[in-house]
Amino acid sequence: MRRKFIVGNWKMHKGPAEADTFADALKRALAGRDAAVDVGVAPPFLSLPAVVARLKHTGIQVAAQNLHAEIQGAYTGEVSGEMLRGAGVAYCLVGHSERRQLFGETDAVVEKKVHACFRSGLLPILCVGETLAEREAGHEREVVVRQLQAALGKVQADQVPSVTLAYEPVWAIGTGKTASPLQAQEMHATIRGWLEATYPAFVARSTRIQYGGSVKGANAAELMKMPDIDGALVGGAALNAEEFLQIIAAAG
Ligand code: PGA
Repeated sequence: MRRKFIVGNWKMHKGPAEADTFADALKRALAGRDAAVDVGVAPPFLSLPAVVARLKHTGIQVAAQNLHAEIQGAYTGEVSGEMLRGAGVAYCLVGHSERRQLFGETDAVVEKKVHACFRSGLLPILCVGETLAEREAGHEREVVVRQLQAALGKVQADQVPSVTLAYEPVWAIGTGKTASPLQAQEMHATIRGWLEATYPAFVARSTRIQYGGSVKGANAAELMKMPDIDGALVGGAALNAEEFLQIIAAAG
């Protein structure tokens, strides 16, 4: 009952012109496919309008990488969920580890942003994951459960399945070190176990949990075979159309 969902997080890559060319290539490559897998891209803010226009009516989803929790106001340099919805964006990453680590986003900020997504009609892609030090200390489960509890603890059960979760061990992001399929599966099972323990049974059954961290064409199939891995959040490998298409094919 959970369709796989592959999302390319472009991070700070591809300005409007390059993003438009890339989105056009993706659109052509995926045209007429039997859509067994949901696909999305997360361009930088400035490239969102071009990508939204290019991917209209293609079924390829467009996500923002971040939002501010308020609707509007004196928040220089920020963009609200309402503005993103107004621009035709459907999804938004929340709590990516780069936001947490480089921009000081705490669990409390992440929670506000999840609620801002619901308020504005964006579908959150909520990222959780432990650092290398946390894993080496044997705290990976506890860290991820704390992040889930903080971000989703007050969310109504029937809203939770509209959240896509992304388990992204920080030590695997951009490092070329992927979690092994078993390591990833173990953590996905922990996350699904938390959903089971916290909400009625339909929530754990229907909520998608993506894996992220050095996913590429060569390792995607093995990861996607795992019972609790419902897709991928792809960084570096999503910048290359061929590689991204390989990952999509591996999930199908
Ligand atoms: P990566 O990034 O695929 O380059 O490791 C994943 C992410 O940060 O979402």
